[in-house]
Amino acid sequence: MRTHVHHLETLAVHAGMDGLAETGSHVPPIDLSTTNPLPSVEEGGDAYESLAGGHDLAPGQTAVYQRLWQPGVARFEEALASLEGTSHAVGFASGMAALSACLVATVSAGRPHVVALRPLYGGSDHVLASGLLGTEVTWCEDQGEVAAALRPDTGLVVLETPANPTCELVDIEAVVAAAGDVPVLVDNTFATPVLQQPAAHGARLVLHSATKYLGGHGDVVGGVIACDEEWARMLRPVRALTGGILHPFAAYLLHRGLRTLPVRVRAQQATAAELATRLSAHDGVTDVHYPDAAHDPHHVLGRQMRGTGSILALDLRGGYDAAATFVESVGLATHAVSLGGVDTLVQHPASLTHRPVAPEARPGAGIVRISVGLEHVDDLTVDLLGALDAALSRTRGSAPLVH
Ligand SMILES: Cc1ncc(COP(=O)(O)O)c(C=O)c1O
Repeated sequence: MRTHVHHLETLAVHAGMDGLAETGSHVPPIDLSTTNPLPSVEEGGDAYESLAGGHDLAPGQTAVYQRLWQPGVARFEEALASLEGTSHAVGFASGMAALSACLVATVSAGRPHVVALRPLYGGSDHVLASGLLGTEVTWCEDQGEVAAALRPDTGLVVLETPANPTCELVDIEAVVAAAGDVPVLVDNTFATPVLQQPAAHGARLVLHSATKYLGGHGDVVGGVIACDEEWARMLRPVRALTGGILHPFAAYLLHRGLRTLPVRVRAQQATAAELATRLSAHDGVTDVHYPDAAHDPHHVLGRQMRGTGSILALDLRGGYDAAATFVESVGLATHAVSLGGVDTLVQHPASLTHRPVAPEARPGAGIVRISVGLEHVDDLTVDLLGALDAALSRTRGSAPLVH
């Protein structure tokens, strides 16, 4: 028989659906059972030990308890792993629970030192900087600093590309080479597997705030790590013991979200690219942070990343006041944190998502982040240009502009 490898679009629709037709279902059932009937004490005990040790559920085995294994979560994990090109994935209650599990696993393996490349999402930066989970961090401002930052007890290198909120691009292969034996975790939330598959470039751990593009509709919080079997076996016991499990209904919504991920990502990206051009012409905008060729110092576009995504950040003339006026003046877009959904969101990172970040690494006061949704580009242009006009008038009112 001829072997044919399915394209990502096909995998997005069909992955994780194996065996459904035989059960008479067309979509995955939502099984809310917290516990599962045990065939016998011995079989129940064996299953408990195996699952608590991080193994896959064996055919015919009882799942024992929802915190150990859940069939809908397993379907979502299988689908996401297939999109990311990894053998395994482990779902969590949120992106932060997913990152925390990786840090706990690293610390408990006796390697508490983490090398982290800034910028990172504010919450990720915060959990690392706080040392809450027993990590010690060395920050790098540039990927070229990673090799020198490594220590014998370094357990993880952490990076985001494109990075939240200003879309800096990192060369994953270069960091993996610099990291040597140390596993590299790439937060792939912004790119999604549609635009970038970090595991193909050597990342051992691929993190998603599934809350964002994977869910895609602003109605589910979740996280996931795509990884190899060895890491899945380390992360599942951490998940079981710390309890950061993904709820079955959340897993259902995330799995459903994956089915439209490629079309959403591409449509949102086309609008974002057009907006980046249109908005850059406004007098109130001093810089547009968008991961296009002009913002690609390591030449990863085309080689590592298949597109530019749908997040952009604007640097506004007039600093904090202009940024605050902009986010408070949108009408079609919503002033709210989060990103990656079907509707456009704007927010001011320095005050919100990146508020806990150390002042020297915090995004500038004049930066606003836009997560571009599926609305028509012309409607968004009218809304966003109107908000830019309002921001500029505020700036001109307080300090006249010299052109
Ligand atoms: C890039 C990135 N990583 C991780 C997270 C954390 O994910 P969650 O909010 O699902 O815990 C976020 C949240 O905004 C994010 O933007």
